[in-house]
Amino acid sequence: MAYLNENYLKLKAGYLFPEIARRVNAFCEKDPEGKARLIRCGIGDVTEALPPAVVDAMHKAVDEMASRDTFRGYGPEQGYLFLRQAIADNDFRAHDVEVDADEIFVSDGSKCDCGNILDILGHQNRIGIPDPVYPVYVDTNVMAGHTGTANDIGAYAGLHYLPGNAENGFVPDPPKEKLDVVYLCFPNNPTGAVATRKQLKAWVDYALANDTLLLFDAAYEAYIQNKEIPRSIYEIPGARRCAIEFRSFSKSGGFTGVRCAFIVVPKELQAKTPDGKTAPLHGLWARRMSTKFNGVSYIVQRAAEALYSHQGKEQVAALVAHYMGNAKILCEGARKAGLKVFGGENAPYIWVKTPQGLSSWQMFDKMLTEANVVITPGSGFGSAGEGYFRISAFNSRANAEEVARRIQALK
Ligand code: MLT
Repeated sequence: MAYLNENYLKLKAGYLFPEIARRVNAFCEKDPEGKARLIRCGIGDVTEALPPAVVDAMHKAVDEMASRDTFRGYGPEQGYLFLRQAIADNDFRAHDVEVDADEIFVSDGSKCDCGNILDILGHQNRIGIPDPVYPVYVDTNVMAGHTGTANDIGAYAGLHYLPGNAENGFVPDPPKEKLDVVYLCFPNNPTGAVATRKQLKAWVDYALANDTLLLFDAAYEAYIQNKEIPRSIYEIPGARRCAIEFRSFSKSGGFTGVRCAFIVVPKELQAKTPDGKTAPLHGLWARRMSTKFNGVSYIVQRAAEALYSHQGKEQVAALVAHYMGNAKILCEGARKAGLKVFGGENAPYIWVKTPQGLSSWQMFDKMLTEANVVITPGSGFGSAGEGYFRISAFNSRANAEEVARRIQALK
């Protein structure tokens, strides 16, 4: 019999979203009427159709694949240059941010990238994780054997938690201690918080002073409405020497079912061996991708490229405006219900304090059984998320309005 990876046995019950799905399915079986009224604002999954520019590009790419002359087999593992160049020009150069097409690696999603990046990092790193946080950062470190076991409140030994709370606006300050790797996510999932230029500069300064690698997840960058808020960590001087940035088309282009994302690994970014030698992470990541990945399909990369066309940009802006319109309606609804609301202004997530001292899961049950609305319990994002819940704005306008009404009608 083969030995298993014992680190998996340290993981808490289930990954958050499958666990929610399990509870929702059990509810639906018990209560068919509730099932008929159910509105899902749990997982942040887009609901609106793909932008027409994307659909056209996909059709055209399929036609190319249908003819021997224009057919493509394996593509470059790092991604086709047409897409990497479009990303470099539009997401970075257009904002005076220095990122070369060669520093961009196209992938099938940020969740995978966040987990896979651990392949090129050592096991001895002291890892800083904001709390609450996207659970993938924690679970992938547990799987990789970077932690001990979890305590009663779900905190893993060996991880350095950086608490986010109402007092710090859910933007943790850099710690006093020296950490080797720190995850940051802005706009934040789950709290919807954004970091100001000053706050990000404090993190970059900390990273440069302590030789820390920042893993900066900017999957929700398209939702930033405030022009003063940086969209990329590379807007902060020095970040090219200390940060990897994760981006995704999932939430901007509606690609959760299409699958395309990318990471930026600047060429000057270095990491060290235990005996003090250094090497650029860019080369390691290129090596990892060429060994373990065969690239994203040509059709999907053409689809992603279309997001950068004139029409594509207008259509993405319309999608973002739609979901942010929902966010406004949900924030107002929750506020009118007397709830304390965070986020929802530069992010598609609304982070809400549970009323009357209810725990996050008690609130989840209350919303499910009394309002027939699926939300995400804050404690699923870490112990500092206890006492909060998250409402996703990814929905139709009619559903967002109905959820706002139902929250106000809750007893
Ligand atoms: C979420 O709901 O937190 C996200 O949809 C998860 C993800 O993007 O993987």
